[in-house]
Amino acid sequence: MVGTKTVQFDHPVLKGKIKVPGDKSISHRAIMLGSIAQGRTAVKGFLDGEDCLRTIDIFKQLGVSIERSGTDVLIDSPGIYNWKNPTNDLYAGNSGTTARLMLGILSGSAVTCRLTGDESLSKRPMKRVTVPLQSMGASISNGEGGEYLPLSIAGGAIKGIDYNMPVASAQVKSAILFAGLNAEGITVVKEKAVSRDHTERMFKQFGAKIEQEGNTVSITGGQLLKGTNVIVPGDISSAAFFMVAAAMVEGSSVDFVDVGLNPTRTGIIEVLRQMGAQVEVIDQKGEAGEPYGTIRISHAPLKGMEISGTIIPTLIDELPIIALLATQAEGTTVIKDAAELRVKETDRIAAVTNELTKLGAQIEATEDGMIIKGPTPLSGGNLESYGDHRLGMMAAIAALISESSIQIDDASCIAISYPNFFDHLTKLVTAGNEE
Ligand code: S3P
Repeated sequence: MVGTKTVQFDHPVLKGKIKVPGDKSISHRAIMLGSIAQGRTAVKGFLDGEDCLRTIDIFKQLGVSIERSGTDVLIDSPGIYNWKNPTNDLYAGNSGTTARLMLGILSGSAVTCRLTGDESLSKRPMKRVTVPLQSMGASISNGEGGEYLPLSIAGGAIKGIDYNMPVASAQVKSAILFAGLNAEGITVVKEKAVSRDHTERMFKQFGAKIEQEGNTVSITGGQLLKGTNVIVPGDISSAAFFMVAAAMVEGSSVDFVDVGLNPTRTGIIEVLRQMGAQVEVIDQKGEAGEPYGTIRISHAPLKGMEISGTIIPTLIDELPIIALLATQAEGTTVIKDAAELRVKETDRIAAVTNELTKLGAQIEATEDGMIIKGPTPLSGGNLESYGDHRLGMMAAIAALISESSIQIDDASCIAISYPNFFDHLTKLVTAGNEE
């Protein structure tokens, strides 16, 4: 439901511990691999956010039995080669991960279908996956060169590829690896900087052989996967909003329990450390192929820094909230090499700069990032979410330090990745007030 949400706090402090919802990237992949594999897959800790629910709906239409009870999901699949043709379009909603990874998966299946998305997703570039997939022999078209959804796919025989990726993108890498799993011969993907490797780790959990060496991943086609059990750790990209809150708000200290600590995702922790926040790793475990643990983040005086190069893919989704953090840090923060932000759910460079400027931040957009000077006090006011969950959450966290309330035009989009976000926000602030 679209409606304005007012967020206001009176001298808040954040305390206590939270277990953030399951990782969005890993939840998608658990449903995808559980559906490709033959047999039963049990998923625990699944993110019941809008994006991941779209992935479940798609596989149900392909004839996979998927039963969900909260964050537990049971998948019983006949295996990729026994899927049926759907009677309706496959709708990916707002989810870029669903759309791009499905293009790779469907290319090597025996399914004929059409993939669609919402208004935002229908404007996001798809050529980055359709071009390599077409050169593997995939039949994907929309009559306009395959740049945007809707796209029609006729799954069939495809062959391996040796591909140098022009952008570091886990979605592109994963789409090609999924296609490679069902292609003839070997598929090799090379990245400029290592992006999140959840696909590679989960392939191994499902019994596939996949090789990773530096920035290169290779897989041999024709491997059959068997159903297995998957435990999804908490999403560090969701935790990032409260990590930044704890770092910015004086007197705060929050423990993040069972949060994913895959090194291809922990750039935010490195940035918090370098900017001066107190970061303690309380414990670290590694179950089912993905490391996770408990991290404590506490407030301390913050300083600006440069964020660029190979760290960017490891914190790409955290850059909106890092920009807010930078408004409270002494000195200049320069974010560069992040042009990918322009093709996310919205143009996040333009959107973050517009919204933080409204609050009085000193922030300038560049072609591939932002320059932020701090510290600056932030006023309250009306902010737009652009229908982008991460912009909506950034606006809500800004209210913790703003001089007056913040009104978010549409906060419902937050349910895309963090359905109980406001409950957790209230819980942490209430615990802080009670101390
Ligand atoms: C994702 C990869 C990232 C990220 C997105 C999820 C994934 O996109 O922004 O939220 O699950 O593979 P890119 O790999 O395109 O940068």
